[in-house]
Amino acid sequence: MGNYKYMETIFVPIFILLVSLNYVMPCNLTTNFYDKTCPKALATIKRSVLASVSSNPRNAALLVRLHFHDCFVQLGGKSWPVRLGRRDSTTSNPDEANRDLPRGNFNLSQLIDNFRRKGLNAREMVALSGSHTIGQARCVTFRGRIYNSALNIDPAFNSSLSAICPPTAPNGDGNLRPLDLQTPNRFDNNYFRNLVSSRGLLISDQVLFNGDSTDSIVTEYVQNPSAFDKDFASAMIKMGEIDVLTGDAGIIRSLCSRAS
Ligand code: HEM
Ligand SMILES: *[C@@H]1O[C@H](CO)[C@@H](O)[C@H](O)[C@H]1NC(C)=O
Ligand SMILES: *[C@@H]1O[C@H](CO)[C@@H](O)[C@H](O)[C@H]1NC(C)=O
Ligand SMILES: *[C@@H]1O[C@H](CO)[C@@H](O)[C@H](O)[C@H]1NC(C)=O
Repeated sequence: MGNYKYMETIFVPIFILLVSLNYVMPCNLTTNFYDKTCPKALATIKRSVLASVSSNPRNAALLVRLHFHDCFVQLGGKSWPVRLGRRDSTTSNPDEANRDLPRGNFNLSQLIDNFRRKGLNAREMVALSGSHTIGQARCVTFRGRIYNSALNIDPAFNSSLSAICPPTAPNGDGNLRPLDLQTPNRFDNNYFRNLVSSRGLLISDQVLFNGDSTDSIVTEYVQNPSAFDKDFASAMIKMGEIDVLTGDAGIIRSLCSRAS
């Protein structure tokens, strides 16, 4: 698989954040959190993430998205020093998730506000949206972009979307399209190129390049991929430290989906 090695540098660190080990250390996140308590942790995680991503490249997207959702709700190049030691929340609240997470039909000011509430600025929001260079979205999340939006849309792109996403719910709700049609399994800056050519899949993607304040950031990331890489890495680190629980705070879940 051509992108295999590429994936490894990006996504291994993400998964590392998700691991839970039974040690309590009263300090902040550090890159060497598990060095003493579980020296094999990172190699083990790396192996299992590689296996998972090579069996299905979308697993990489799912891990990145999971990290985003975890950071928002509670709690150089394309790899970065991941600071470890996040613990799990003692609660799990779907209403809180709905309130805190941005939606695919958000306009630009809603996106900027939503990220600002988490301490992230507009530039960091644009960089982090670059995660949509991988992964897929369901028709139910982009129907509005096709039938109910004043945003520019490339006609051929629109046809390819409407072909699988009929106007009336729940028809085709679960049908998938890549968020980055050009290189759906590759972490690159084509997401931003798509926006400039009116091929953003979600409303929340296209509003980043729609004659408003973030246009210049998108153009910069098109022209200068390393600026995107650099900003993405630092914004991911910052996102990883939102409302973090360490030391004795929070818990370590033995079943990730259950708050006990
Ligand atoms: C800017 C605000 C954002 C909005 C409104 C948004 C919204 C969405 C929506 C609606 C989907 C499709 C979900 C589905 O159909 O089930 C999606 C997918 C995804 N999002 Fe975002 N997202 C945002 C930012 C982010 C950030 C910051 C990250 C990671 C750092 C991220 C990572 C992903 C990934 C990887 C997928 C694909 C998952 C898959 O293949 O199933 N998104 N996003
Ligand atoms: C943890 O981080 C906070 C904020 O950056 C800092 O004020 C504090 O001194 C740090 N604590 C330790 C134990 O490093
Ligand atoms: C964005 O959406 C919010 C909520 O629907 C609305 O109040 C606001 O006027 C919209 N802003 C723009 C610039 O469209
Ligand atoms: C996209 O194509 C569909 C189907 O032809 C059409 O109904 C819709 O108006 C088009 N959307 C835009 C924004 O042009």
